[in-house]
Amino acid sequence: MYYNLMAILEVKDLNLGFNCECGFRQALFDVSFSLERGKMHALVGESGCGKTISAMTIPRLLPKNAEIKGGEIIFNGENLLKVPQKIIRNIRGHKIALIPQDPMTSLNPLYTIGNQLLEVIELHQGLKGKEAINRAVQALEDVQIPCAKERMKSYPHEFSGGMKQRAIIAMALCCHAEILIADEPTTALDVTVQAQIMNLLKQIQKEKNTSILLITHDLALVGENADYISVMYAGRIVESAPAKEFFKNTKHPYSIALLRSLPSNREARLETIEGQPPSIMQDIGGCRFHTRCKKYSEKCTKEIPQLENVGINHYCACFFN
Ligand SMILES: Nc1ncnc2c1ncn2[C@@H]1O[C@H](COP(=O)(O)OP(=O)(O)OP(=O)(O)O)[C@@H](O)[C@H]1O
Ligand code: SF4
Ligand SMILES: [Mg+2]
Repeated sequence: MYYNLMAILEVKDLNLGFNCECGFRQALFDVSFSLERGKMHALVGESGCGKTISAMTIPRLLPKNAEIKGGEIIFNGENLLKVPQKIIRNIRGHKIALIPQDPMTSLNPLYTIGNQLLEVIELHQGLKGKEAINRAVQALEDVQIPCAKERMKSYPHEFSGGMKQRAIIAMALCCHAEILIADEPTTALDVTVQAQIMNLLKQIQKEKNTSILLITHDLALVGENADYISVMYAGRIVESAPAKEFFKNTKHPYSIALLRSLPSNREARLETIEGQPPSIMQDIGGCRFHTRCKKYSEKCTKEIPQLENVGINHYCACFFN
């Protein structure tokens, strides 16, 4: 696998699984991807493909039954999988911030938005009193919350879904995070608000040179925003490429099928991918996509295709490329 020298973060050959009642079940297989400073990398795939687990391993926010079997996560020259919990807690929220699908997992319903912002500002910027308040109001203005000063006094339930997501983005900005991990940040929002949040993330990426790992099942969202794309299927990266190259020269049958199922795709007849990705309980030999692939041959049922270079910075795991 190719390693990126410009990367701020590199996930290398990550193997991870869960200890279930029936024993250990592997969920991620040799997952590798990198994030360049100031760029947006999208991790795409259907539900259950391992996007969240891959991302949550970075700040080590994994379920208790998860077990990492191998791999490295290199951030600022350090392997995050080896550093003590205390240091990880410091990196989390300070250097690496999370924007979850459900904003209420990050907001405390009992405290005002202002108080939650002030806590972050006092902790990460060392500001107090009026200075801290001014900084918090500025942060809400930066994420385009109207009447920011008034809104400091609101509780999370008084904010709409889009406003809650903006408040979380404001908190991430206040701790000067170098990396934002946005896990389906717009799925719960209506289309207009989705576009506003994506524009806001793009703006932050450009103005603050923040690196963003965007997790989504929506390739349409990715097409307009990401610099680089990795497609996951059943716990493996099956294709990765710079966004322009990916859309111009899509290689993997799964990526092609995902693109064909986009409602906006007028060139192709709207298609759905029959069936669903296997769960971690299902043992599927060979290429894990073979049960749904129209191109498959006998070899696909027996051997596992590895990621191979198929273009400039373009990698694909399929025998027929
Ligand atoms: N604690 C757990 N114990 C057992 N299996 C788990 C656990 N957490 C996740 N999994 C399994 O790991 C696989 C990957 O899950 P993950 O949440 O990363 O998927 P995802 O791609 O983010 O899906 P979605 O788009 O639905 O959020 C799934 O098959 C899921 O059922
Ligand atoms: S290796 Fe075979 S089954 Fe897998 S994507 Fe390629 S053609 Fe399809
Ligand atoms: Mg997920």
